[in-house]
Amino acid sequence: MRYALISDVHANLPALEAVMRDIAGRAGPSLRSGQALATYHLGDLVGYAPWPDETVELLRRAGVPGVAGNYDSTVATDYAHCGCRYEDPRQEELSHLSYAWTRAHVSPETKEFLGSLPFRIDLRPLGGHAGGPTITLLHGNQVLNTVYVTEDRPDAFLTKMGAGAGAKPGDVVCFGHTHKPWHRAVEGVHFVNTGSVGRPKDGDWRAGYVLLTFDGGSVDVEIVRVEYDLDATMRGIRASDLPHEFADYLRTGGVLA
Ligand SMILES: [Fe+2]
Repeated sequence: MRYALISDVHANLPALEAVMRDIAGRAGPSLRSGQALATYHLGDLVGYAPWPDETVELLRRAGVPGVAGNYDSTVATDYAHCGCRYEDPRQEELSHLSYAWTRAHVSPETKEFLGSLPFRIDLRPLGGHAGGPTITLLHGNQVLNTVYVTEDRPDAFLTKMGAGAGAKPGDVVCFGHTHKPWHRAVEGVHFVNTGSVGRPKDGDWRAGYVLLTFDGGSVDVEIVRVEYDLDATMRGIRASDLPHEFADYLRTGGVLA
């Protein structure tokens, strides 16, 4: 059983389209033609780029379920801010501009859809009638979708997170939010950060997602990167009244201050 996990699209429609094409190209012979791999999103569908409605519409049409990121739940509930972390005052200012723009531009239907997303999803590759691994999909951690689970978190933090999520050895706990993909097993529980489709922060501009493959008792985690029409996204940002800095941020894979 294979799953494609996509996170933090952030309204970058060209990046999402490229990732969906890549996923469709990986469908095995057991799947009917035209049917993609089992695909789930891990939230943060909107913010920072000019296609929030189109992003949601594409995922709804493709039948991709998923969980609520902080950007989704804050837009949906008219929260005071997007629940994002800033490294400096300029970043904070840009973040507020993006949040205000997104709230002003999402359709009522998109907002309602974002509000309907569940906080977490549990998958059972072997079925719920028998024992076997559980895949838990979150955005941040098991308590809040605003918690950053970064690669430098100590094993003790992840052990506590796994216990809090109800994970046992062999299970896989997946999350996004930091926009930097990584994978580590601690006491038999796999922790997988699925990175970001539309706004990577690891210095690689390409769209990122994760493939999980369950084969017997083992799980394989593949971090995939896909080139997309970056120029189209940069043009789209510059043609909108979003801060133009967001275009350069994408080009550098988030290393530009
Ligand atoms: Fe995000």
